[in-house]
Amino acid sequence: MDVVIASDYEDLSRRAAGVLADLALARPDAVVSLATGETPLGMYRVLIGWVESRRVDLSRLRFFMLDDYYGVAQDDRRSFYRWLQQAIFEPAGVPRHHVYPLPTTDADPVAACAAYEEAIAAAGGIDLQLLGIGANGHLGFNEPGSPAASPTRLVDLTETTLESNARYWGTGPEDVPRQAITMGLGTILRARRHLLLASGAAKAEILARALEEQITEEAPASLLRQCAAVTIIADRAAASRLRRTAVVE
Ligand code: PGA
Repeated sequence: MDVVIASDYEDLSRRAAGVLADLALARPDAVVSLATGETPLGMYRVLIGWVESRRVDLSRLRFFMLDDYYGVAQDDRRSFYRWLQQAIFEPAGVPRHHVYPLPTTDADPVAACAAYEEAIAAAGGIDLQLLGIGANGHLGFNEPGSPAASPTRLVDLTETTLESNARYWGTGPEDVPRQAITMGLGTILRARRHLLLASGAAKAEILARALEEQITEEAPASLLRQCAAVTIIADRAAASRLRRTAVVE
């Protein structure tokens, strides 16, 4: 596991963009899963700039959604699919048929989630999984207590997540859907490479817990320590509580 301390959010964003750009240069049709949230927005802006200046081409990569709200259509303003279309896919020239959506409006989520797992396997598995870290340690919408081997499935969201995500639309938690479809922890942990981003003092405590305390399903991000190729990029504020972790500046 490499833990890289970025000097600030700009530096974090540039370094994270570099990881995806390097993959796209080496393997233009690699399979990638991106994260929604505030943390990767800077990375996405850097990548769009590089696409516009023709330093990198993301249009042949294939993408799988990490998580999304259940009962929410793709054109709903709360849809994570729509969020990623606007934040990165459309401006970076990724064709819609290269983005595999989660079955958020399917009446039979169990069968549809099984089909989602099969689609990932048929694509050859995930080469790079980008992740944020929830204040409660969640990965995607795998809340604390999710089984480490869990597959893509319908889940209930915790109050912490409802409150935290209300900020995305400047509304209250009552406007946040209470259920979601998430890639499972098993699905996420099977990716060949992981890149986790953490920015700001609000993530300092959970990052230290995930990296320096027990590996446990109660802090899903801690399970990444069992994976072979993990890069964590944290800015100084998010890394401020790390005591024992060897870091690269
Ligand atoms: P954030 O979300 O990037 O908006 O902090 C991270 C997460 O909840 O996974």
